Amino acid sequence: MSPNERLSLFSRHFNTNSHVPLRTPFTIERESSKDDKDTPWEPPQHQKQKSTTPLEQKRSFGTQTTSLQEEGKRDKTLADSSTKKSAKMSSQPSHPALLIPGPIEFDDEVLASMSHYSESHVGMPFVNTFGEVLTMLRKLFQTTNPASQPFVISGSGTLGWDQVAANLGERGDEALVLHTGYFADSFADCFEAYGVKATQLKAPIGDRPQLDEVEKALKEKDYKIITITHTDTSTGVLSEIKPLADLVRKVSPKTLIVVDAVCSVGCENIEFDNWDLDVVLTASQKAIGCPAGLSILMASGRAIETFKNRATPPQTYFASWKNWMPIMQNYEAKKPSYFATPSPQLIHALHTALTQIMARPLSERFAKNKEVSQHVKKTIGEMGLKQLATKEENQAAGMTAIYLPEGLTPPEILPTLMKKGVIFAGGLHKEIATKYVRFGHMGVSVMDDKRDDIERALKALKEGLAEVGSKSGQ
Ligand SMILES: Cc1ncc(COP(=O)(O)O)c(C=O)c1O
Repeated sequence: MSPNERLSLFSRHFNTNSHVPLRTPFTIERESSKDDKDTPWEPPQHQKQKSTTPLEQKRSFGTQTTSLQEEGKRDKTLADSSTKKSAKMSSQPSHPALLIPGPIEFDDEVLASMSHYSESHVGMPFVNTFGEVLTMLRKLFQTTNPASQPFVISGSGTLGWDQVAANLGERGDEALVLHTGYFADSFADCFEAYGVKATQLKAPIGDRPQLDEVEKALKEKDYKIITITHTDTSTGVLSEIKPLADLVRKVSPKTLIVVDAVCSVGCENIEFDNWDLDVVLTASQKAIGCPAGLSILMASGRAIETFKNRATPPQTYFASWKNWMPIMQNYEAKKPSYFATPSPQLIHALHTALTQIMARPLSERFAKNKEVSQHVKKTIGEMGLKQLATKEENQAAGMTAIYLPEGLTPPEILPTLMKKGVIFAGGLHKEIATKYVRFGHMGVSVMDDKRDDIERALKALKEGLAEVGSKSGQ
C-alpha cells in the first residue's frame, strides 16, 4: 500500500458510502479487497460554501435546526451566557458528532485558540502561556510535590511510551506490562525497541489482571517498571490504579509505576501524589478536549532521579528528558528557552482546554463522566447489547466497547450511524475487531449540558440496529 493510499484510509470516515476496517500494525495481514483502492479526498462541504459566514450556518444535527441570524434577532446582545454558549457552539460547520474514543468533539473556544496569530515561540507572551499550561497540569494530575515534573512535547500519546522506555529503561531492564487490550501490546513493543524486556500479564478479553496474579508476577522477577493501562481504548476496560500502586509499593517498592492514561486523564480521577505514581502519560486529543498533537506526561521525583542515575545515555534524541527537562523548568519559571520548536497554536488550545477544566472542581467533572457513562451502559443493556467489560468495576467512564448482535459487523452499522449524525469507532482488539464498536463519551459531549450528542448517539444506535435488521434494536 502506498503512503497516499494508507493516509486516505484514515479520512474515510468522512465518506458516508464506504466503511473500511481500520488497519493497525497487527492487522496489516488482513486480506485486501476492492475497497482497499484509494478514494480521492473530498473537502468537507463547508469549505465549498465560501459565501457562508459562521453566523449564517445552521446546526442541523441537533434536535432543533436554528439559524443564528434568527437567534440573533431574538436576542441581539447575546447577553445571557447560555445563549452565548449555544451561539458559539454553532459557529462550527454542521457535522456528525465525533463520538469515537478520541479525538473528540471540540469546544468552540478551544478550536478558536488554534487560530491565534503567529507569535515567537521564545517570546514572553508564549512562554507565559506555556508556563501556565504546565502549572495547570500539576492541578489536573493532582500533584503538589515540587519534585514532580510535567512535560508537554509535540507528538501523540505514543511519544509518552517512547519517553518512558527511552528515559527510564536501559538495555536488559525488565518491565511488567499489565495487559487489558491492544495498547499493552504496543507499549510492550515500544519497550522492546529500546532493548527493555517486556513481560505481559494478560487477562481474558474484557477483564483485567487480578491483584494476586500481579503480586505473584512481581515476586518472580525484579521489575524496574510496571505499566498499567488505566482505560484500554480497545476494550473499554478500566484498571483500578490505587490498589495496584499500593500492592507494588508493598511487594516491590523500587519498581516504577507507569500509568498509560491516554484515555483517562480528564475523565477519571488520578491522584498522582496520593497514589505514589511515577509516570502518568496522556495525549491532548481525548478527555482533555484539545486537538491531537501533544504528548503530555507527569514524572515523579523518583522517576527523574532514576533518569539522572542512568548508566547509559538514553537511546533517543528528540524524546530525551536531558533535552526537555531544562526547557520545561524554564517555561514554568517564565524564562524563554529552546530545544525544538513547539506548536504555539496547540499550546494555546491546551491552555484554553485546561482553563475550562479548572473552572469547575475536578470531582464534579469525574462524577458527571461516571453518571453519563452509567446512563450509556444501562441504555445499551436495555437494548440487549453486551459490553466487552462485563464487570461493573472494570468499566471505563470515558467510553463503552459494545458487542454487536451476532452476525453483524462494524462496516454494516457504522455508515448507518454516520447518516444519523454520529461517528462511532470499529473494534480494535485484534482477536475480536469485527464483533464490536466503540462509543467515546468524553469532553464537551458529556460536560456541556446544551449538547445532545449522547442522547442522539443512543437513539441512532437503537434505530440503526433496527434498520440493519437486528432484533436488539427492535
Ligand atoms: C490507552 C492508549 N494508549 C496510547 C495510545 C496512543 O496514543 P496516540 O494514538 O495519540 O499516539 C492510545 C491511543 O488511542 C490509547 O488509547
